[in-house]
Amino acid sequence: MSVLEVTSELYAEAEFCSTETGNGNAISKFTFVYPNRRPDLDVVNGAQAGLSNGMEKRNGSVDRHSERTESIKDYEEEEYFPEEESYESDCDECVSEFSEEQEEEQEEFEETGTDDSSSNASSQSKATTKQSPIKLDKDGDAIVERPRRGAIDIEHRKSTRLDLVGLQIWRGALLLADYIMHNERKFKNSHILELGSGVGLTSIVASMYAREVICTDIDIGGLLDLIRGNLQRNAHLANPHCRTHVTELDFKVSYQDYPRELKNQLQHVQYVIAADVIYDDDITEAFVRTLVSLLLELPKLKAIYIALEKRYVFTVEDMESVAPCYDYFLRYFQKRNSRFGVNRWKLINVCMNFPRFFDYDKVKDLVLLKICHAGK
Ligand SMILES: C[S@@+](CC[C@H](N)C(=O)[O-])C[C@H]1O[C@@H](n2cnc3c(N)ncnc32)[C@H](O)[C@@H]1O
Repeated sequence: MSVLEVTSELYAEAEFCSTETGNGNAISKFTFVYPNRRPDLDVVNGAQAGLSNGMEKRNGSVDRHSERTESIKDYEEEEYFPEEESYESDCDECVSEFSEEQEEEQEEFEETGTDDSSSNASSQSKATTKQSPIKLDKDGDAIVERPRRGAIDIEHRKSTRLDLVGLQIWRGALLLADYIMHNERKFKNSHILELGSGVGLTSIVASMYAREVICTDIDIGGLLDLIRGNLQRNAHLANPHCRTHVTELDFKVSYQDYPRELKNQLQHVQYVIAADVIYDDDITEAFVRTLVSLLLELPKLKAIYIALEKRYVFTVEDMESVAPCYDYFLRYFQKRNSRFGVNRWKLINVCMNFPRFFDYDKVKDLVLLKICHAGK
């Protein structure tokens, strides 16, 4: 067992308001800005609809959670063709599905995107506010666009041994949380399985939109109880219709040996998400085997999203910077993917220019991968 002590870089780059709990853990506030949608995208019966998250009407109450019309088609993230040969891209497909208006909105996100890690969602909100003309409601009151803020309270450790890294929070968790928030229409009322959840932050964000979230990890160092406590602590943020479950799912256990109850729950899963679980080749192999089983066994699975940091190192052997864990994952996945001579699944590099709602460094080594059936 490793005694190497590791600390998530996340703690050094953002000021989290933390309180020590006395048992070696801390409870920290992870603040975020709710996604801000332009009200002119909300059209009901041809008229402007109620305001969405982050929008408030001055001098009057509004229904902040008003439903967006289904007439606006949920748009896919833009995806691009990456360097690796084993990848595919459905960028053209998804762009052709955009209406002009949706494309415009996408471009706006690109312009105000977060490639510059010094920017954040609140400054983007300000930028968007500046560009938008003042809108009036039917009473003549100004509709003011203000960023609405929220906070997730998480009990976690600030440093651990390598085998207990799940007790900490890693950048990938926030990247994936950002992606879910930005694509709330995609995840709304969906059934989500999170693998290697750590202390549960991304599952908590998923529970804000989903119908069901199955939050899983290995039961080590009291991790599953910590997740249960964190879900409870943030229950007020969840979609009231969302059911959450916390259960053990060890990548090293084969699908056939999962408990019957878990297998039943998995039958409904549409999205699998995982953040920062690629850092050790043994775990990576087991993770890929788990992904393959889920791709084969889950009848409703639409996509798997994996957030990770490439973590470059310079090696004398290669005489250059390489990302060994990431490369190993790609090679191992590709080996399993092409096992029968054809690629059964697509691996797509998701475009990273979605807004940042949480406070962290969106470093250039962060990537978000999407895996789905080759036919989809
Ligand atoms: C670096 S942490 C990431 C935690 C969290 N997703 C985040 O991004 O903050 C890696 C996670 O993988 C989990 N993990 C390690 N081995 C595993 C296994 N065999 N099966 C399932 N999860 C595992 C760890 O417990 C830990 O929660």
